[in-house]
Amino acid sequence: MNDANNNNRAYLRWTRVERYQHWILALSFTMLAITGFALKYPEAVWVQPLLVFEENFALRGWVHRIFALVFVGLSIYHVGYLLFTPRGRMQLKALAPRRQDFFDFKDNLRFLLGKRATPAEFDRFSYMEKAEYWALVWGTVVMAFTGFLLWFENFALRIFPFWMMEVFTVIHLYEAWLATLAIFVWHFYAVIFNPEVYPLNQSMIDGYMSESEMEREHGRELERMRANAESEATLPTQAQ
Ligand code: HEM
Repeated sequence: MNDANNNNRAYLRWTRVERYQHWILALSFTMLAITGFALKYPEAVWVQPLLVFEENFALRGWVHRIFALVFVGLSIYHVGYLLFTPRGRMQLKALAPRRQDFFDFKDNLRFLLGKRATPAEFDRFSYMEKAEYWALVWGTVVMAFTGFLLWFENFALRIFPFWMMEVFTVIHLYEAWLATLAIFVWHFYAVIFNPEVYPLNQSMIDGYMSESEMEREHGRELERMRANAESEATLPTQAQ
């Protein structure tokens, strides 16, 4: 059961539009990984259903390209959201790397090594979440750049020598491995398999985090929220 429903206070972590962005990203990334690795490993059992029409219709290749457009379209929308909405600008500011992240990293390491009694505290985004987010940004640029050059090969060959196409393919493939493993090992541990959140951190479903989840994962932000709430509560209202 969602922890957020057990506590009397729940904190909004993701708005509806942010959750939609996340799920479109998850769907398009998964489809790109399946159809991309299917090209690399055409003999694999799980690839066979994708290749049934291959003689008449390049289903796998089309699905890869269609979801590439969804993925890149979403990325462009996301940049607009970050730059042109007040909530997006707030999120972008919170995602910016800061000196405090190094101190948090040090505190966390010391805690994990048993040299610190209390767990490290994090703000709206921990240094791990920031690293994951900016790795995704960088990975998207690399995949879109190399992917479109592979897609529009004739155009690419007007600019680059032929051997560079091999290089783009290798970069595309290894970045695909890196991204897929990062999602499976790192992201899935953080939001699913970590015993503290298992079976799922549900904030990306209903948008909310419970007070105890906030304390554990975003203690510094929670303190600030409480302080703001207190100072607002003590402000004189117009009626007074
Ligand atoms: C961002 C936009 C992307 C574009 C425009 C794109 C485009 C392409 C193109 C044109 C190819 C080669 C031909 C073909 O598939 O028929 C390809 C191959 C591939 N793509 Fe993508 N792709 C993108 C993102 C991704 C992502 C996110 C992944 C996986 C996480 C991925 C994994 C792969 C793999 C594994 C291959 C096979 C590489 C090889 O043959 O060694 N692609 N992609």
